[in-house]
Amino acid sequence: MTIANTVELVAAAKRDGYAVPAVNIVDDLSMRAIIAAAEAAQSPIILQTSVKTVKSMGAEIIAGIYKNAAGAVSVPVALHLDHCPDRAVITEVIKHGWSSVLFDASDRPLQQAWDETREVVKECHAAGVGVESEIENIVGVEDGVGSDEATHSYSNDKIVEVADDTDTDLLAPALGTSHGMYKSSPVLQFDRVTELGKLTDKPVVLHGGTGLSPEDFERFIANGVAKINISTTVKLAYMHAARDHIAKAEETGKWEPVKMFDDVNKAVQATVTEHINEFGSAGKAASNGSAA
Ligand code: 13P
Repeated sequence: MTIANTVELVAAAKRDGYAVPAVNIVDDLSMRAIIAAAEAAQSPIILQTSVKTVKSMGAEIIAGIYKNAAGAVSVPVALHLDHCPDRAVITEVIKHGWSSVLFDASDRPLQQAWDETREVVKECHAAGVGVESEIENIVGVEDGVGSDEATHSYSNDKIVEVADDTDTDLLAPALGTSHGMYKSSPVLQFDRVTELGKLTDKPVVLHGGTGLSPEDFERFIANGVAKINISTTVKLAYMHAARDHIAKAEETGKWEPVKMFDDVNKAVQATVTEHINEFGSAGKAASNGSAA
């Protein structure tokens, strides 16, 4: 049984100097491809669902596939709800056995974000579910959530004060990255991770992994990042493989969906494997002790 606890996976990564890949799924095909990449590399893995994916597939169906797919491999696999400002969705996924949630309160004024984060942590912890917290917004729109404008930003002291007071498990501060493809070179805040690490033991999460270089990942991890979120690049691998397969079917007249799924599976696996290697999580499945 390898259904894992997100907070334990990330704490082990922070302790041992690597980052757990947190990869967004869009359906069962992408979920199985990501798990297969993790199993082949013996890496712990976090599957992430956007609110959009939860609404499109339904929490019960996602949970059923996750439990069966994660239960069939030897590596620890956690299930995380990505950017969620909607507390009803958090309550729904807690009911269906998610390992952790990102309560995205970055659209609220500070005091409201602070108070609601405290309530969400209480609700989640009562069910054994971990909480990542975002009170300043990471730029970019991800599956309909977020903004292209930086609307809230706070000092490191304030971020840590709110996290300590609310008992948040993981921090998602703005680090100069953004969701989606970069339109211009980002100004990455590597030192902010180091500064936060002087104030708290709580692990730091890096969002907006698509478009960063292996050297960028290495520097963020060396400074203390222990969970890295990847979405857009996996969606592109998925869609490009499907497009190429359909173009080939047009030429050959062979229309076989299962063969297209094989191509998508291979493309998603290859992208995830690349990131597992860049994040240093290959071979770390056995060392984190978090399988439950
Ligand atoms: P990208 O889409 O830029 O990879 O970011 C993913 C992410 O941060 C999900 O929370």
